[in-house]
Parts: sequence; structure tokens; C-alpha cells
Amino acid sequence: MKSKFIIGPAVAADLPYAQVIVDEIANSAKVRGTGIAKRSPEYIARKIEEGKAIMAKTASGEWAGFCYIEAWGHGQFVANSGLIVAPKFREHGLARQIKEATFELSRIKFPDAKIFGLTTGAAVMKINSHLGYKPVIYQELTTDEAFWQGCQSCVNYEILQAKNRQGCICTAMLYNPAWEQNQKPKRKKWKKRELGKDLSLFERWVNFKKNTLLKGKTKKVQSNEK
Ligand SMILES: CC(C)(COP(=O)(O)OP(=O)(O)OC[C@H]1O[C@@H](n2cnc3c(N)ncnc32)[C@H](O)[C@@H]1OP(=O)(O)O)[C@@H](O)C(=O)NCCC(=O)NCCS
Repeated sequence: MKSKFIIGPAVAADLPYAQVIVDEIANSAKVRGTGIAKRSPEYIARKIEEGKAIMAKTASGEWAGFCYIEAWGHGQFVANSGLIVAPKFREHGLARQIKEATFELSRIKFPDAKIFGLTTGAAVMKINSHLGYKPVIYQELTTDEAFWQGCQSCVNYEILQAKNRQGCICTAMLYNPAWEQNQKPKRKKWKKRELGKDLSLFERWVNFKKNTLLKGKTKKVQSNEK
């Protein structure tokens, strides 16, 4: 199905949306009653200028959603953060599309980096799992001080500190590109067309069917008839 939204890397013309995005992130956190690392409009604007943000708009140019990427630990890690969808456009699969675009941007900009996120949201957990993220313990995340400082503005920061950064309310999820090398090659599904082209394979299949699959059945039918 064709999306009714235009989703892609944010550009300079999107800078005026920085304030709207910051306000919506703060409002949504208040409504959900959860903690959130606060961002300033300047920070969001910087992400847009650096080409590290994905913007979603309607065909008529109305702002619909946003997400950005940030590298940590000298580029060893990348976080996809600040996912937000305008309330009136929620539950239409937009967050999924924005996250997919952000994931793709992360892979292009930082191909070897581990991609991670911290979240309390069921929707984000679902989307991340679909993208190949796995839940991990906090020790598998970046140790970059600057990343963890971002949590200071969250209402749950005391919990994080009390646990010595080994856990908090958020679930940590991570995608490691190294896993791609360990993936077993998928078994090829033969299409009808391919079977037709490759006669020897087709013949082998007919023989296999005749000599192995049908052999037992034929015997059974015969024995039933007795
Ligand atoms: C969370 C948020 C981004 C989801 O946006 P959305 O466009 O409604 O999400 P989608 O329609 O793409 O839904 C993706 C999946 O999550 C599910 N989902 C959506 N909202 C959900 C919710 N509140 N609770 C549980 N699951 C939810 C959908 O059913 C869908 O699952 P499916 O593929 O199995 O059907 C949006 O509600 C939002 O901006 N919330 C406030 C900010 C926020 O919480 N950001 C995440 C911070 S970690």
C-alpha cells in the first residue's frame, strides 16, 4: 500500500519544525506519565543540519513525525532517538515507516556501528524487534558519558544512578551488524518458472516423488485393498 506520508532525511526547510517536535515529545511524555530525555529545539535543529534526522510530512506539507540518529563511543554505537508521531496521525503505521527510514540512514552513515535504543514503549519494542533488534542488558550499550548524561533530564534518573547504570525503567534494545555475517543463508524457494526451466531438476523431483514419496503410499493402498 502506498504511504500517504512523505518520509525522508530532514532538510534545511524543515528547521522551523524543531520547536513543534520538542513540544510534542514533552507533551506526549507528560500524557504517558513516563520519563523522557528532554531535547532543546537547538539540538533538534543541529540533527537536521547534520543530515541525521528523518522527517515525515503529509503531501500538503503538514508535519507528521520525526526521529534522529546520534553516534556515541567514537562511532561504535548509534542511537535512534526522539521518535515522535503527531497524535492525529498515530496508529496508521507511520512510526514503523519512520523507524525503518532512520534505521536505513544509520546503516548508511555508520555501517559498522551497533544500533541501539532505550524505550518504555510497546510500539517501539515491536518495531525494533521487527527490524532485528534484541533486548540486551545495559552493559552491552555504549559507555559514552555524553549519552548517559542525556538521561539526567528524565524523571527516572535517580533509579538509573541507584542501579549504577546497570538498569532502569527503559528496556535496552540493540542491533549488531556483525549478526548479519552469522545469519544462515535462507533456503532457496523454487518457483514454478525455475522448475520448468531446469528440466533435470524437474526430472529429479518426479523421480524422487515416484520412488520415495509415492512408494510407501502405493504399498499402503495395496495392503488396504487386501
Ligand atoms: C509510540 C508512537 C511513536 C507510535 O506511533 P504510531 O505511528 O502510532 O505507531 P505505528 O502505527 O507505526 O505502530 C507500530 C506498532 O506498534 C503498535 N502500537 C502503536 N501504538 C501503540 C501503543 N500505544 N501501545 C502498544 N502498541 C502500540 C501498533 O499496533 C503496531 O503494531 P503492529 O505492527 O503489530 O500492528 C506514537 O504513539 C508516539 O509518538 N508516542 C509518543 C512518543 C513516544 O512514545 N515515543 C517513543 C519513545 S521511546
